[in-house]
Parts: sequence; C-alpha cells; structure tokens
Amino acid sequence: MNDALRDGSPGDILVARPAPGVVMITLHRPDARNALRTRMLREIAETLAAAEADDAMRAVVITGGLACFAAGADIREMATLGPIDVLLHERQQHWRAIAAFPKPLIAAVNGYALGGGCELVLCADIVVAGTSAKFGQPEINLGMIPGAGGIQRLARTAGKARAMQMVLTGEPIDADAALAAGIVVEVDEPESAISRALEIASVLAGKPALALRQAKAAVLRAFETPLAEALASDRQAFALLAASHDRNEGIAAFLEKRPARFTGK
Ligand code: CAA
Repeated sequence: MNDALRDGSPGDILVARPAPGVVMITLHRPDARNALRTRMLREIAETLAAAEADDAMRAVVITGGLACFAAGADIREMATLGPIDVLLHERQQHWRAIAAFPKPLIAAVNGYALGGGCELVLCADIVVAGTSAKFGQPEINLGMIPGAGGIQRLARTAGKARAMQMVLTGEPIDADAALAAGIVVEVDEPESAISRALEIASVLAGKPALALRQAKAAVLRAFETPLAEALASDRQAFALLAASHDRNEGIAAFLEKRPARFTGK
C-alpha cells in the first residue's frame, strides 16, 4: 500500500482507513480553523492520488472534524502572492486534482466551510452536514471573488439566486438552507455527520467500482456538457459497462437470487 494511505499524518491532515475500501481525510490545523494553506492542499491531492491508484480503495470521506470544516484559503499565505504568483501557483494544480478525483468523495461538514472550504465542499459528490455547519463565500469582504471554482459550482448546484446572494453578500448560510439549496443531502447532529458520511462511503465501497466511476463522471457531465453530447457519452458508458465482469455478475446474481460478488473489473 502507498505510504500516503497509511493511518497517520503527513502534517496538515490526518489519514485513516476506518472501514474496508474507505479512506478518511481529516483536515487538521485547528489553530487556524483548518485554513487551506498550500501544504494542506498538496497533502489532500497526494492522498487522493494514492486512493485513486489503489484498486482496493473505493471511496474517500473528507471532514474537518467536529469543530470546523475549513475557513478558506490561508489568508496569511495569500497576502504574500501577487497576480503572477497566483496564476502559476501549485495550488491550481491541487484544486484540479481534487475536482478530477474519479472515485466518490463524500464530505462531512461541521462548523464553518468558508471560501476555499466551501469550494472544497462543492468538489465533493455527496455532502452530509452537522447542524452547526455554515457554508459561505466571504471573499467579497477581502476584495476578492472565490478563486477555486466556487462560483461556477455554486451556481450550477444551488442556482443563480442563491449563488448571487452568497457570493455578493459574503454571508454564510446554515445547514438547513444548504439542504434546501441542494448543496447538502442530509443534516445530522454534529457527531453523526461524520459517521453518516462513513456509512455512505461503506455502502459505495461495496458497489461495482467501474460502474461507480462511470456514474460519477456521467453526473458531472450534466454540469459541464451540452445535453446531446452528454447523452451520447452516457450511452457509450452504458454500452462499455456491458463488457465488464461486474455488470454480468450483477445481472446473474439478480436472476439467481443471490448476492453479487463484484470484483471491480
Ligand atoms: N486564513 C488564515 N488564518 C485563519 C483563517 C484563514 N482563512 N481563518 C481563521 N484563521 C486563523 C485566525 O487568524 C486565528 O489565528 P490567531 O489565533 O493566530 O489569531 C485563528 O484562525 C482563529 O480564528 P478566529 O479567532 O477568527 O476564530 P473565530 O472562531 O472567532 O472565527 C471564522 C472563525 C469565522 C472562520 C473566522 O476566522 C474567519 O472569518 N476566517 C476567515 C474566513 C474567510 O474570509 N475565508 C475566505 C478566505 S479567501 C479564500 O478562501 C479564497 C479562495 O477562493 C480559495
């Protein structure tokens, strides 16, 4: 197994494997409200790359623990960067890697998910919130706009009115509003949000991995591709899966009234 997946901490995050096939990343800079400095983004991207490369790893949960998800980019670090630094900074590459992670990414959010923290949530596929969660894009108050894809993902996820309100006012919304906006699928007590995310990840870890990967990519196409192209790509993916072991096994198991034995192939 890749060292990046062993239980422990490379520095700004904690990595654990709390259930078969599940990797859990806990953002861990409590003194800075889990601000996403470059080192933390790099560690997240490296852990996701290791999880992608390991066939036994089927889903990833990302959380900030019970107190705070993440208060955004590290403002102290940002203060040192000029326009060219921002443009060429390795952060861009880490954000791209997070957004392109092909296996399910489930976020469990307690406390603040602000700025880059909210943008990280918007890169997740399924989001569970604790009742204490607050989602916001306060960059406007710093004379900026969200820089890690938050505006586009928020508008596509929550619609124009909610995106305008959050991005223009900078005011956070609570967990119930995020549920109504479609950012979150479920609101639980703070202690339960992480265990629910792990439960969901465990369920996904038991699904046929190839179909799961195609399904995630297909849902994301709905946000990125004109309808006719997206439908054509879905049909190709549907046909491709007919060649997989797991599709034939899933059908055979149903017809033989027995549990399927998926191999991920
Ligand atoms: N960057 C760096 N340090 C941060 C930080 C951030 N985003 N957010 C909090 N911290 C630090 C504080 O400076 C403070 O450090 P010290 O103890 O050394 O002074 C420590 O974390 C605790 O912060 P507070 O005392 O402010 O904690 P609080 O509980 O009273 O408030 C908070 C929490 C509401 C999250 C508040 O800290 C806050 O508003 N943080 C900034 C949020 C923000 O503006 N985020 C957007 C960043 S820009 C961005 O993300 C760009 C992008 O698109 C990628």
